[in-house]
Amino acid sequence: MPAPPGFRLPPPLQVAWLIKDPAGFYEAGRRRYGPVFQVRFPGLPPEACVASAELAEEVFAVDGGAGRAGDIRRTFVGPLVGEESLLCLDREPWWRHRRLISPPLHGRAVASWRDTIAEIAAAEVAGWPAGTPFALRTRMERITLEVIMRVVFGIRDAERLSRLRVLLPELIALGGSAALLRLPPKTRERALSSPALLRMGALPTTRYVRARDAVDTILYQEIARRRAAPIPGATDVLSQLVAARDEHGEPLTDQELRDELMTLLQAGHETTATALAWTFERLLRTPEALDTLCEELTVDDDGPYLGAVVKEALRARPVILGAPRTLDEPVRIGGYDIPAGWYVSASIPLILSDPDVFPEPGEFRPERFLGENAAGANKGWVPFGGGRRYCAGAQLATLEMRVIVSEVLRRVRLTAVRPGPERPRLKNVTLVPARLTEAVAWPVNARFGSVGVGGV
Ligand code: HEM
Repeated sequence: MPAPPGFRLPPPLQVAWLIKDPAGFYEAGRRRYGPVFQVRFPGLPPEACVASAELAEEVFAVDGGAGRAGDIRRTFVGPLVGEESLLCLDREPWWRHRRLISPPLHGRAVASWRDTIAEIAAAEVAGWPAGTPFALRTRMERITLEVIMRVVFGIRDAERLSRLRVLLPELIALGGSAALLRLPPKTRERALSSPALLRMGALPTTRYVRARDAVDTILYQEIARRRAAPIPGATDVLSQLVAARDEHGEPLTDQELRDELMTLLQAGHETTATALAWTFERLLRTPEALDTLCEELTVDDDGPYLGAVVKEALRARPVILGAPRTLDEPVRIGGYDIPAGWYVSASIPLILSDPDVFPEPGEFRPERFLGENAAGANKGWVPFGGGRRYCAGAQLATLEMRVIVSEVLRRVRLTAVRPGPERPRLKNVTLVPARLTEAVAWPVNARFGSVGVGGV
């Protein structure tokens, strides 16, 4: 069997096309070559993209043996999150971390954060300008950052919180900047560790190391406090991770805890803010859906339509481009042999627009996830990836989305600044709305017993 067909363009031109028009690039691949096709990016092995919901399961099945997800991520985000991060580990070390991290991010622990998330959202909305355009994604980032600091890191001290409110956005911006991410790995390593280069305060790499060291100091202090004096009944992730023991009765080391906190910050903050920005971007351009949702919110602040809106937003505007794995052994998918050493990737936006599973995929239609339609739609719903490496924070992310959408819409009426849809723009491996969801907030109409925007 042949390897999958693909574009004949040289790799630098493929990456240029991807950056200019991410949705169009992958769409063209599916249109020309079908549900399994090959793409090439400079300096990386060939990648087999899988574009149908049915075949996606075969990609995720490689987590059982032939494929590793950590390998690729280590190249890109290793320096940001550390070597002991769940994102970058594979095989047994990954499994040990995953078993320890999963319980604090599931079930009752997550449900117990609802009120805190609602309070954070309400406080943020109260400060929004009335009648003046602003970028909703920036506001969403403030909320999701606060959620990470309070329910994941479990920080209560007001002074530490206010220092992190300055340091973390700086760290994330510098860490995600092209200056750092696009450097060849060896040059980057040198810039991050050479004492001579680290004396040059204007270099982005030096500024990054300084911000990271300042954040690390706070995180290590927080870890030491939690070890010395556990907070009884605390449900934050750090408290639970400090108390967790593996099957040999061993706890996570300080370094492992620090790397996992950084992982949850990097994996959970911008992704959720972007997903929220898209949810509002879609709602503001689909008045029937917005009206139905606002109607439901008058009687139920976490009803079925809200759940369906969140699912449909994650489907119609997925945040992550793909869930790639490095192959240690050849696999056969969709009639093609994909050689060892290649990447194989579930192409999330293509799977979520597979017309066999999501009829008229371009339409924003939360009803797909309600009633008898739901079973089929749920099967192809992969915004959080799949297999063993399925997003560890999916429950927290969807709770945040439901609570924050509800808090916002019960407090303000939002309108779009421009009627046309915002186009997806590539930011690292995430797809953000090109204008960051430009909107205007107005005092809410009487049906919610007006709370009003701050300053109105
Ligand atoms: C809407 C928001 C989010 C989206 C769309 C998203 C999406 C994803 C995707 C696609 C993956 C890769 C899955 C795969 O390779 O099969 C992933 C992994 C991961 N996510 Fe999320 N995520 C979100 C929010 C969060 C949050 C809030 C957290 C935690 C605070 C989080 C933590 C993680 C971690 C730790 C992994 C790595 C899991 C592993 O390799 O075992 N994510 N996420």
